[in-house]
Amino acid sequence: MRIIILGSAAGGGVPQWNCGCPNCVEARNRGAGRTQSSVAVSADGERWVVLNASPDLRTQFAAHAPLWPPSKRGSPIAAVVLTDGEIDHTLGLLLLRESGARLPVYAPAGVTALLGDEWPVYRVLSAYSGVDARTLEEGRPINLTDGAGVTLGLCCSATAVARRPPRYARSAPTATFDVGLRINDERTGGAFAYVPTAGGVDDSVRRIASGADVLMFDGTFWSDDELRHAGADAPSAREMGHLPIGGPGGSLELLPSLGAKRTVYVHINNTNPILSPASHERKQVEAARIVVGEDGMEFEL
Ligand code: MLT
Ligand code: MN
Ligand code: ZN
Repeated sequence: MRIIILGSAAGGGVPQWNCGCPNCVEARNRGAGRTQSSVAVSADGERWVVLNASPDLRTQFAAHAPLWPPSKRGSPIAAVVLTDGEIDHTLGLLLLRESGARLPVYAPAGVTALLGDEWPVYRVLSAYSGVDARTLEEGRPINLTDGAGVTLGLCCSATAVARRPPRYARSAPTATFDVGLRINDERTGGAFAYVPTAGGVDDSVRRIASGADVLMFDGTFWSDDELRHAGADAPSAREMGHLPIGGPGGSLELLPSLGAKRTVYVHINNTNPILSPASHERKQVEAARIVVGEDGMEFEL
């Protein structure tokens, strides 16, 4: 299985348009930033599954040759899997409207419902190529297939993780709005655990991550009050459903016990001090042998 981090940043990216925090200033000055959260996975290197459809998907696909059209018209993107219904993970679906056929999109039922109603992406897309909405049933491993039903060699199992509904759907009926994924390569046995958003390291996360070759985990915030310190009138990390990295009970303390061979932070917010290579927070992450994910980072399992 090949895995490419297409985008390592949380919603807003780095720099975020209206943010003057040190990381965003530095990114503007260097002309280098990070795009929003998405990962591409492939068992055969030819047909790819995109995990979360970011608003930066156009530049992300352009940046990686394996994702370019193999012929005059077409795409190696065989399917999309959504782990939540947040704007940063779903807006990119609108950018795929030129597709020649209905796009297979796997998502938990709660997310599919949001995309047909409160955030009506599926309804809008139905006037274009349309979406082949497929349900990821919790705890039931499925073989991912392309639009024609041909197996992609990847077995995917979704498990609900602790979070809250997206801000645009506070009153949505109780459902699962966030899952973590365990993706297994059927040929090599390689195991990839993908948990870009999680409010805690609980039994669900343990199940997903246990013994994985690579675990990608929610690296949104270092501290609970980080956004407020950056001048934003915002809820805390925990209120947003993101377990902070630092401090007692933070993910840095808990992730090493999960037994994943490699652990990588993704979905990193632009305010997070781990983005600065010289910060003492970054040094703590490195001392724990956890990798700070970067756009374009690749793994082969
Ligand atoms: C999240 O991951 O918490 C959301 O994407 C935040 C947002 O609204 O950008
Ligand atoms: Mn997000
Ligand atoms: Zn910033």
